[in-house]
Amino acid sequence: MSSIPIKDRNGIAKMREACAVAAMVLDQLKPLVRPGVTTQDLEEAGRDWIARLGARSACYGYQHGSRRYPAHTCISVNDEVVHGIPSFRRVLREGDIVSLDIVVWHEGYIGDNAFTVPVLPVSPAVEKLLRVTREALDIGIKQAQIGHRIGDISAAIQTFVEANGFSVVRDMVGHGVGVSMHEPPEIPNFGKRGTGDKIKPGMTLAIEPMVNLGAYKTKTLSDGWTVVAADGLPSAHYEHTVLTTDRGPEILTVPRTVPAQVSV
Ligand code: MF3
Ligand code: CO
Repeated sequence: MSSIPIKDRNGIAKMREACAVAAMVLDQLKPLVRPGVTTQDLEEAGRDWIARLGARSACYGYQHGSRRYPAHTCISVNDEVVHGIPSFRRVLREGDIVSLDIVVWHEGYIGDNAFTVPVLPVSPAVEKLLRVTREALDIGIKQAQIGHRIGDISAAIQTFVEANGFSVVRDMVGHGVGVSMHEPPEIPNFGKRGTGDKIKPGMTLAIEPMVNLGAYKTKTLSDGWTVVAADGLPSAHYEHTVLTTDRGPEILTVPRTVPAQVSV
């Protein structure tokens, strides 16, 4: 078992910058989610904002087996859980939910965050799915305290999600993040309190509940990337990169104001 990297002052400063960029890009994309917009439109806006903010997409060219991810953003609609490939054929309509997952590389460090945006109006059940998934993220983050264990994050998320009648995806997990997109530890959204590695100061953790309205089973489409809920029901995804400190968890993926000198 490889150990969880601890970031020093410099690493933390660099993570702060990378995560701020990831959050700013995500923040710019949210208001673009409207009826008639294609997921390719969102991809192009994301690609351009990543470049303007002096970063690179950590998704573009990301290798999994023999495949390379072909886009700068992951955009997953409705029953798509994660890793949806943007397409000019995918036109958004009222009632859709759109998960935007933005991972950027900035000065050697990676910031990772995701948010599910509804194309209003959505059904009450879907509204609840988004609210519960978002709250599950907050509840998971609250567990990222020094002396707790990774399983405390997992268990808190699972308990809350299942108490609300939804299910947590098992096939994908949260993760440490830093100089690479996936560092130890794995952070499942299900598990037992008191298990897993102990949380220490200076860890940077991507906590990311993926919650299905129906059953937790997923499958991967023939494009080799898009993960969908096997029962075809909607799925939501929220993610923050969090720094563990003696003063408690600190969310790093918070946007700053886009500097005026950045021309649009
Ligand atoms: N946030 C996703 C993850 O942690 C981003 C994947 S990028 C892709 O797996 F290239 F795999 F699509
Ligand atoms: Co992630």
